[in-house]
Amino acid sequence: MKELLNAVKITEKVYWVGAVDWEIKNFHGYSTERGTTYNAYLVIDKKITLIDTVKAPFRDELLARISSVIDPEKIDYIVSNHAEMDHSGCLPEMIKIVKPEKVFASPMGEKNLKAHFGNDLQLEIVKTGDSICLGDNTLSFVETRMIHWPDSMFTYLSGEKILFSQDGFGMHMAGLERFADEYPDYVIEWEGAKYYANILMLYAPKILSVIESLPGFNFDIKIIAPDHGPCWRKNPGWIIEQYRKWSAQKPEKRAIIVYDTMWESTATMAKAIADGISSTGVEVELISLKARDRSYVATMALKSGALVIGSSTLNNQLLPPIADILTYLKGLRPLNKIGFAFGSYGWSGESIKQINEYLTATDVELTCGGVKSKYVPDQAALHECFNAGAALGNRLIEKIEAGNKPAEK
Ligand code: FEO
Repeated sequence: MKELLNAVKITEKVYWVGAVDWEIKNFHGYSTERGTTYNAYLVIDKKITLIDTVKAPFRDELLARISSVIDPEKIDYIVSNHAEMDHSGCLPEMIKIVKPEKVFASPMGEKNLKAHFGNDLQLEIVKTGDSICLGDNTLSFVETRMIHWPDSMFTYLSGEKILFSQDGFGMHMAGLERFADEYPDYVIEWEGAKYYANILMLYAPKILSVIESLPGFNFDIKIIAPDHGPCWRKNPGWIIEQYRKWSAQKPEKRAIIVYDTMWESTATMAKAIADGISSTGVEVELISLKARDRSYVATMALKSGALVIGSSTLNNQLLPPIADILTYLKGLRPLNKIGFAFGSYGWSGESIKQINEYLTATDVELTCGGVKSKYVPDQAALHECFNAGAALGNRLIEKIEAGNKPAEK
């Protein structure tokens, strides 16, 4: 089927030719309520260059958008900034259709693309510091290993002053508006943070070091063009600063209480803990896993200094939604958090110990050993919950104040 779709002009010489996935609501576990885009960019110069491709089922959309500007067979070069299949899925087919002179990838890009598509793939290796001349513009490459795959790479286009940042600075959001300033600020802030928390939080130290290294390349970045969501043209420095802040993960004066409950006893404990936290002036949000998913929890974990986790004990184990969240957070490794466990139980009560094991493995500072209540919490148990919440709030404030003190000379 030939689709009739248009490219979107990013600058005089660069077009967005990607695909919009309005239907995807779950991106291997990440809830993408707003869908997503797979961005590819066409650079019109003496050497016509395609930056990245799209997920395999969207090949015709990519071809249609390219065809609205030029005949796809006129493409000379393809750059693969990232081997994950939402950007490389139709690369082998595009190579067959376009027959480009060269396909560029990082050293790890070569390994990973061949691991996906076979050793017949002909690739030119480019490393950090390498450049290729397209005519009026030059492409310069920066390997950004583990942001978020070993093959990840940034490509900077001089002249048009665009940083093609693959997954970095992206967000999962379908839409035909191609610039962040065309969307409401609150949507951009939330979706940008959600993307960082769920895809990149684990790599915070590496992200900080890439941000610190960028000035050394003397790129004059006017536009950041990621592989998902809108481009940053109005103030690209804003999203770089957000990444610096999120990667530093300084404790925020906010706590989340994430819980699941069988007969409302654990929920009742959660409310008492919330009152205790709130009494100290720390903002608190109760997150019931009957209402929210893991992507929401990870986003709020990024924005919070404290994680309090509650689960009833079921068959000597955690409630499955809590086990899911703890496994997920253990992988994402949020930094500089404090927290504790709580929950109701009937006769064995393993949930506290199991939550504590996860929190400890995630380097969460425990502010108490946990709060347990047999069956339905009585007044004494609820006082204990309130007090544990208040102690956590006070510890968070102490931690924030200590972090704000000037360093002693
Ligand atoms: Fe959008 Fe790591 O792929």
